[in-house]
Order: sequence, then structure tokens, then C-alpha cells
Amino acid sequence: MILTETPVVTAALEAAVRAPSPHNTQPWLFELGPDVIDVVLDENRVLTVCDPDRREARLSCGAALLNLELAIAAAGRSCDVELLPEKDRPELLARVGLRARHRATAAEQRLATSIRARYSNRRPFASTPVPAGARHAVRLAAREEGAKLILLDELGLLEAVAGLIRRADHLQTLDEGFQAELRAWTKGDGSHDGVPAYAGGPRPSGGLLPVRHHGESDQTREFERDPVVAVLTTPTDGPLAQVRAGRAMQRALLTATSLGLSASFYSQPMEIPSARTVLRSLLGENEHPHIVFRLGYGFPGSTTPRRPAGAVTRIRP
Ligand SMILES: Cc1cc2nc3c(=O)[nH]c(=O)nc-3n(C[C@H](O)[C@H](O)[C@H](O)COP(=O)(O)O)c2cc1C
Repeated sequence: MILTETPVVTAALEAAVRAPSPHNTQPWLFELGPDVIDVVLDENRVLTVCDPDRREARLSCGAALLNLELAIAAAGRSCDVELLPEKDRPELLARVGLRARHRATAAEQRLATSIRARYSNRRPFASTPVPAGARHAVRLAAREEGAKLILLDELGLLEAVAGLIRRADHLQTLDEGFQAELRAWTKGDGSHDGVPAYAGGPRPSGGLLPVRHHGESDQTREFERDPVVAVLTTPTDGPLAQVRAGRAMQRALLTATSLGLSASFYSQPMEIPSARTVLRSLLGENEHPHIVFRLGYGFPGSTTPRRPAGAVTRIRP
């Protein structure tokens, strides 16, 4: 019975809503049944300009799903997960069934603890290099979820991808529709969604990568000279691959957090179809890119608000 599971379910939902999402739209709903939590894409929160295909919304729900699973494990239960369980309900992305008692592994505990510590850090990182062991761990985390995390260590490739990000960013600054959507989701203090100005970064003074402008001041800062940039890819594309990619993205980000690393996203080339095609051709035809992020040792920042779990949960009819 769902009532007997309340502490586990509550912990799971509170963890799920901490997932990242584009412009902090939080495009998820959770439907509760007896021993079951359904993860549903909330069509009302899809970004119609930046994400008409719902790729980023599915990635976000995939990340929320992984948080849910880790929190259930940390609360002492196992679960099984069925992705896209009902053909005629494409917005129903996953069904999580609560199962037997379970003793969380050290890795599950570590990642579950990192859920609340993770946030997007758009400020410059320290110039301290990210050691090989940490790079390997983050790559392995993505692989565990069936994805590949390509670290752009080759100078030519990094410069080509960074150039594409700068170009896509520039096109988005000229796109009135994109700017209106970004403004609508850039919010002041007190809102439970959207990106607060304090979470934005300064404008880089030169350097390889732009920073999406969230209404912060026009102050400029020098960013790290040699950024670690990663692209997460899957061998196929489509709704299922996108939910899996979201899980892989979140496992990689939580692993990074647990190792003291910060991350920030660059989805500009994913949001312009021609740029995404170029990115794919740079990486290889077998790689379907989903998200680009930068990793490094960040100076402390803060987490952003979320709608409370109760506001995004309903009992299954
Ligand atoms: C699929 C996806 C794409 C995103 N793209 C960007 C981006 O291009 N630029 C950016 O600054 N943040 C981007 N973000 C980060 C979100 O703005 C951020 O997750 C959200 O505001 C919640 O904040 P938090 O990550 O600090 O919890 C993206 C997040 C996701 C999941």
C-alpha cells in the first residue's frame, strides 16, 4: 500500500525534484499508485522555442528518475524500472515499482548524498587540472547507463565544438522568440522555478566558451584557460534514448559532485538543429549528442529553488 511507503516515497520525490532542467522548468509530474511511482513529462512546461522535440524535457525527467531510484535505494528499498511502459501514453516516461528491502551500497549512498549538493556553477573554475582518475570515474558513470561521455581532450575537436557553441549562442541572442522564452524563465527571488539571477555567471572576457545570460550584471571575468568540456552521446536517438541519456547525464553529474567537481551546461548547439547536425558530424555518425557540459573545481555557489514535491505529485486515477 502506498500509505505504508510514505517515508520512502517522500524521500524519493524530494530527491527527484532536485534534478536539473533547462531554464529550471521542472517538466515533470509524479503519479502515485500502490507501490508505484510514474514519472510523467509535463507538456505544459516544455520550452516550445528551445526544445520543440522535448529532448531536453526527457533528459530532465531521466535525471529526476535516477534521483528517484537512488533515493529509494538510500531509504532501504529496491525498485524496478520500466521505461515508456504504455505505448499510447508517450508522456509516461517511466514506471518505478517499489520492491523488497535493500541495503544501499556505498556508491548508492554517495550519489544519493550528492543530489542535494549538485548545482550548475556558471562561474569561472580554478585552474587546477581535473585528474585522470576523476575523468575516468565520470566517463564510467555515463557508461553504466549505456551512454558515452566524450571528453574533448583533442585540441582541434575542443576548438571546433567551442566555436559551434559560440556561433549557436550568437544566433540565439538574435532570436527574439528564444530571448522572450529565456526572459520568461529568468526570475527574481521567491519563485519556485526559473533561473534566479544569482545563479548566472559573469560574461567571459574572451576565452573559448560563452555563458547563457540569465539577467545577471554585465560584469566580465576571465574563465579557466583550458576548460574540460564533455559531450554525452548515445548510439541511437528517440524518446527512449533521451530518457536513458538523462539518467546517464545525472549519474555523471552526481559522480562529479561526489568528487568535489562542479559543472555547467552548454546546450546551445543542441537547440539549433543545423548546429546539432554539425556537432554530430564532428563526433562521428554513430554518436547522437544530447548535452555538453564543462567540468572543473568551482568556487562555492548555491542551489536554486524547486517547486515542492507535493506540487508535482498526484494520485493515479
Ligand atoms: C537539458 C538541460 C539543458 C541545459 N542547458 C543549459 C544551458 O545551455 N546553459 C545554462 O546555463 N544552463 C543550462 N542548463 C542548466 C539549468 O538551467 C539548471 O539545471 C536549472 O536552472 C536548475 O539549476 P541547478 O542545475 O543549479 O539545479 C540545462 C539543464 C538541462 C537539464
